[in-house]
Amino acid sequence: MNRVSALQNDRLLRALACQPVDVTPVWIMRQAGRYLPEYRAVREKAGSFLQLCKTPELASEVTLQPLARFDLDAAIIFSDILTIPDAMGLGLGFTEGEGPAFERPVRSMRDVKALGVPDPETDLRYVSDAIRLVRHELGGKVPLIGFCGSPFTLAAYMIEGRANKHFPHIQRMRGEAPDVLHALLDILTESVICHLNAQIQAGAQVVMIFDSWGGLLDTPGYEIFSLPYLSRIIQGLLRFHEGRAVPVILFTLHGGQWLEQMLTTGCDAIGIDWTLSLIEARLRVSGKVALQGNLDPAILKQDPDTIRREVSKVLAEYGEGPGHVFNLGHGITPDIPPEHVRVLVDAVHQGMIEQ
Ligand code: CP3
Repeated sequence: MNRVSALQNDRLLRALACQPVDVTPVWIMRQAGRYLPEYRAVREKAGSFLQLCKTPELASEVTLQPLARFDLDAAIIFSDILTIPDAMGLGLGFTEGEGPAFERPVRSMRDVKALGVPDPETDLRYVSDAIRLVRHELGGKVPLIGFCGSPFTLAAYMIEGRANKHFPHIQRMRGEAPDVLHALLDILTESVICHLNAQIQAGAQVVMIFDSWGGLLDTPGYEIFSLPYLSRIIQGLLRFHEGRAVPVILFTLHGGQWLEQMLTTGCDAIGIDWTLSLIEARLRVSGKVALQGNLDPAILKQDPDTIRREVSKVLAEYGEGPGHVFNLGHGITPDIPPEHVRVLVDAVHQGMIEQ
């Protein structure tokens, strides 16, 4: 079947293609999550975060929760970047307050050689099943975003074995055993391509690659250990499905210094964190890609008037013309009152640019 599926709200797809839109589209990284009481209730029912990810009916339910509350222009499938290393058998667990941890971290070539590319039809079938359910439930209301982690970001967790602000083990491996690191990045690249293509075939209409820890690298490190693998992924993706282009958004947290390098990957849009001004970002990408971002997530803790004012500032920084998707500069945190998200979404759609 190669029919164009009807989409009632295609602002996101238009903005990502740098086409004109009536108002700036907006969605929020981690828009389904702990700041929503209805999310916490479903997670309780599932038993754990991972169990929630692995139960398509529940993953579909929480994906749709923020859309029932707010006038968002996209859904993002509820899942996690660490589903790939979990499917590789590293023994993933999440503990409250400490984040993810693996029972069997990857530290040697022997560990890497023992890993296989997860089969999207079996090992990660729950993600495709959840995507099909969400697409059915959405009925074309807004597009659905699929996602994955970058090979470097996944490797950082797999080598460290747990969350850490500095990831010293991958830094050490980079210096002492770069061949082991490249072998791991290689298998992760294949795994990400398979997983994202399966998401696209199941109905993801946009895909986003989260390079959340690429910003730990210096420029030579980024160009050797993250960028080439991102390019390979983008080259390996299905770029056309259901009669439409499937845009790719690339997001390297704290990667503002590398916009020029990111442009070479063939992505359609670059996610910008709040440390780089959209004025500068727009000048530097000069219309070659769309930009997504970049309100500081901490602003959502402030009062509604401040949120409206800061939204206006971001819209004004981007300025006139197509190619902007409004988002936070990183994920929403669990302490945010849901009402503040409504204020943000409505302010974006009202498009108030203060003079
Ligand atoms: O945006 C969405 O609504 C989709 C959901 C989504 C989750 N994780 C759900 C989640 C997405 C896009 C991710 C991506 C992800 N996961 C990233 C990249 C984005 C980023 O934040 O930079 C990373 C690094 C991970 C790994 C991960 N998963 C960590 C470090 C944690 C713990 C963090 C924390 O806040 O406790 C998770 C757990 C996780 N993933 C939660 C959610 C809603 C919280 C789980 C819970 O306790 O309910």
